[in-house]
Amino acid sequence: MNDENFVQVKNLRKVYENGHEAIKDVSFSVKKGDLVCLLGPSGCGKTTIFNMLAGLLTPTSGDILFDGKSVVKTAPKDRQIGYVFQNYALYPHMTVLQNVMFPLTVGKNKRPKAEAEKVARKYMNLTQIDEFADQKPDQLSGGQQQRVAIARALVQEPKILLMDEPLSNLDARLRLKIREEIRSLVKKVGITTLFVTHDQEEALSIGDKIILFNDGVIQQDDLGQNLYSEPNNYFVANFVGNPVIDNFSVEVKDGKVTGSDFEIAVSDLKQDRFKHELKDGKYVLSVRPENILPAESGNVKVTIQDIELIGRERILKFNHDGIQARSLVDLETPIKAGDNINLKMRLDRIFIFTPEGERVY
Ligand SMILES: Nc1ncnc2c1ncn2[C@@H]1O[C@H](COP(=O)(O)OP(=O)(O)OP(=O)(O)O)[C@@H](O)[C@H]1O
Ligand SMILES: [Mg+2]
Repeated sequence: MNDENFVQVKNLRKVYENGHEAIKDVSFSVKKGDLVCLLGPSGCGKTTIFNMLAGLLTPTSGDILFDGKSVVKTAPKDRQIGYVFQNYALYPHMTVLQNVMFPLTVGKNKRPKAEAEKVARKYMNLTQIDEFADQKPDQLSGGQQQRVAIARALVQEPKILLMDEPLSNLDARLRLKIREEIRSLVKKVGITTLFVTHDQEEALSIGDKIILFNDGVIQQDDLGQNLYSEPNNYFVANFVGNPVIDNFSVEVKDGKVTGSDFEIAVSDLKQDRFKHELKDGKYVLSVRPENILPAESGNVKVTIQDIELIGRERILKFNHDGIQARSLVDLETPIKAGDNINLKMRLDRIFIFTPEGERVY
C-alpha cells in the first residue's frame, strides 16, 4: 500500500533532442484519490511531465512510480492511465460515440458492446455531448471536442487520470460546471488525478494541492492557501493572486526598510516571520492588495488614479515608485479617483524578497 505516495516522481529530468532541458530534477508525490493541479506559465514543462507519466516520452533520468512500482519501462497501454490531451487527439474517422466507447472496446478494459455503449452514454451525458453522438469530431466546436476527450478519458474509470488543460476551450459557465463535475466524479470514483492549468483561480478552486512550476523546476508544492499566504519566493507570490500582488523596491539600512515614500522600522516586523537575517541592501517588499488599506495613520501617501469594481469589492489603483499598485477595499469605502489618501500595510502580511526572488520575510 502506497496511498500517501500513489504517484511518485523522483529526480525526473528531460532533455529534449535539441539539448533543451525542459524538466530539471523534479520530485513530487500524489496521494491516492487526490486531485492535484500542475500550475505554471506556458512552456514551463507541464505537458512534458504528463507525457513521461503516460509513457509517451522517456525520461532522461529519474524514476516514476505508481503504487510503489517503477513504470518507466511499462508500455503506455499497461499504465492504466486516462489522458485528456491538450490538443484532444480524437480519432477523426470515428463518431463521438465511437470515440468515447473506444477505451472499452480494446485491451484489458474490453466489455460487451451494449455495456460499453451504456457506460459511454453516461459520460457523454455528464459532459453534455449526447446530442453529437453520431457526428465526427471535425463537425464539432473546440469546446465540444474537448468534452469528447474528457468523456473518453473517464469512461474506463482509470486508476490515474491526466488532464492537460481540459477546460481551456469552454465558456466561463460550462467551465465552472464541468470542473465541479470533474471534481465530484473523481472524488466519487477515487481516481488519482493530475490536472494541468495555467489558470491559478481554477487551480485554487479544484486542487487538493497545487504544484507550481516555472522553467522546469517546482517553485512550491503546497495547499493553495499556502501558495497565497506563504509563498516560497517572489515568483510564487506574483503568480498567485488576483488582483496581483504589489511590489515596492526598498532599501534596508540602519534598522529601517525604506521605500520611495514610506519607512518601516525593522523592529516593527514580526520576528517569527523571518526566514533569514535581513542584512542591509536592496530588496522587494510585496503586499497583497487586501493588506494595504486606507488608514488615517497610514504612512504610504498616494493619489488614487482609477477605481475598478470587481464583484463585491473595489480595486483602488495608484502609482507608487513609478509602478502601478493596488488596494482592495469594500464597496462602502468612500474614496474616488483623484483623492489623496494614506495607506497602511499589515506588517504581519507583507513579504520581503531579495532581488533574486528569495524570501527573507
Ligand atoms: N519535442 C521538443 N523538442 C524540444 N523542445 C521541446 C519539445 N517539446 C517541448 N519543448 C520545450 O520544452 C518546454 C516545455 O514544454 P511543455 O510543452 O512541457 O510546456 P507546457 O508547460 O505544457 O506549456 P503550455 O502551458 O504552453 O502547454 C518548452 O520550452 C518547449 O518549447
Ligand atoms: Mg502544455
